[in-house]
Amino acid sequence: MENRPLEYDYTVAKLFMYNTIFVGIVGMLVGVILAWQMAFPGVNTFLGVNLAEYTNFGRLRPLHTDSVIYGFVLSGVWSSWYYIGQRVLKVSMAESKFLMFVGKAHFWIYMAASIVIVISLLFGITSSKEYSEFEWPLDAGIVIIWVLWGISIFGLIGIRREKSLYISIWYFIATFLAVAMLHIFNNAEVPTWLIAPGVGSWYHSVSMYAGTNDALVQWWFGHNAVAFVLTTPIIAMIYYFLPKESGQAVYSYKLSLLAFWGLMFVYLWAGGHHLLFSTVPDWMQTMGSVFSVVLILPSWGSAINMLLTMKGEWQQVAASPLIKFMIMASTFYMFSTLEGPIQAIKSVNALAHFTDWIVGHVHDGALGWVGFMVIAAMFHMAPRIFKREIYSKSLMGTQFWIQTLGVILYFTSMWIAGITQGMMWRAHDEFGNLAYSFIDTVAVLHPYFTIRAVGGTLYLVGMFMFAYNMYKTMTSSRVVEESELQNATPMGA
Ligand code: HEM
Ligand code: HEM
Repeated sequence: MENRPLEYDYTVAKLFMYNTIFVGIVGMLVGVILAWQMAFPGVNTFLGVNLAEYTNFGRLRPLHTDSVIYGFVLSGVWSSWYYIGQRVLKVSMAESKFLMFVGKAHFWIYMAASIVIVISLLFGITSSKEYSEFEWPLDAGIVIIWVLWGISIFGLIGIRREKSLYISIWYFIATFLAVAMLHIFNNAEVPTWLIAPGVGSWYHSVSMYAGTNDALVQWWFGHNAVAFVLTTPIIAMIYYFLPKESGQAVYSYKLSLLAFWGLMFVYLWAGGHHLLFSTVPDWMQTMGSVFSVVLILPSWGSAINMLLTMKGEWQQVAASPLIKFMIMASTFYMFSTLEGPIQAIKSVNALAHFTDWIVGHVHDGALGWVGFMVIAAMFHMAPRIFKREIYSKSLMGTQFWIQTLGVILYFTSMWIAGITQGMMWRAHDEFGNLAYSFIDTVAVLHPYFTIRAVGGTLYLVGMFMFAYNMYKTMTSSRVVEESELQNATPMGA
């Protein structure tokens, strides 16, 4: 047994993979609708007056953010976990009936919760905390889903054959622990019927924190949701998939550890940058700003480590669309983690806050870094899971360029829109009267909103190409053995 290659069981990885593709398309379709709604408000009622309540911007926005972050990205992360975990720990899920059961329960309870979440958001039932919109029964369900994932992580680690823990596992553990803590603290809430029986609905709750404290906890959560859902698990993925796909060892393990502890220490203090010029104590705002600037170091530590992994092998970037996705992802990671600290400087934030420049920052990270890396992970895993080669590499290449163009149109238009907005809002004459009314700024933004909508639509077109390529790969592509595929480190797994 020890000498034979292990037969890994990808049942759960596959389930999450299907969901990644499906929710990726749905969540981004909603993003595209939002983008067109902002450019042409008439689109808000495009499904007819009666349905307008369910399709207007206010209802669809949280549906977009939650479905792409907790649907598309988390499913991609979990698909990758159920693949990478077995391989770097050198243990198969088939060896433990219990862990197999936990993995399947993890998926199906998550799916059930997702359906209830979609319905509740469409009906406007939310706790109104951004990225944490769910009411208390769903928050409780999320705890169960998270605990199941934790059992899977520590269960597999417990029965592993490989003694040392590859760096990706560190990042998965950090994701698990940090999100558990963030979720519990930010969702400390009391059901309304406990405070005032007979008033309000059974599912509604109010936060245990009030005013400024509530805002502080919310943005400590919000910023770290970026850190531990949109960053650490994605780093876990790239540390595995890039070396595997390129056949190159990670450039520096020391740098990977240094960057890991740097991220862990610095990220948790930076949330104050969301509350600059608010009622939060001044020293906390300054601390948020300072830690955000320091955050460039560990962020770039990981990104540079990825880029240098390709040292001497840059021809692979030209030759392989899959490596292109990963190298572009690291590049966008560097880009958004330079842009974020700049926006966290108080004088810059005074201009940028509330403007579309922030939305641009969100999406160069979300589409360029996170989206590309999730797509790359699926493309790497599919041939190994389904034992069929990628259906069309040229389609993958076309998808890469269309989506890259989409991201560029998205963030450049939002930069121009945001800075224009910020400048117009603060412009005044010599008596201190504002030079422009709000509607003046809206009129100026129209062309940029249209360009963003075109960029987003291109990205979505790429998602359809991705889904088609994956579907053909799973069903009708040439059968291959894993040994035929380029395959090397990490740790031979
Ligand atoms: C060094 C790392 C980073 C720093 C210091 C940073 C800093 C910032 C700042 C200053 C804001 C604007 C706050 C405001 O005025 O409203 C912001 C917003 C945001 N950033 Fe970053 N950022 C970083 C990396 C990233 C990455 C990699 C992503 C995504 C992949 C991301 C996603 C977001 C999101 C989603 C928001 C919007 C939050 C909201 O208002 O709803 N950030 N970030
Ligand atoms: C086709 C792709 C996408 C399009 C067209 C799109 C479009 C949009 C639009 C129009 C908004 C509302 C902006 C506003 O309120 O002013 C938005 C918000 C947001 N989207 Fe997307 N999106 C896409 C993909 C994604 C992905 C993949 C992610 C994350 C992984 C993401 C995360 C977010 C977040 C966090 C916000 C809230 C930003 C903030 O509050 O500052 N989006 N998106």
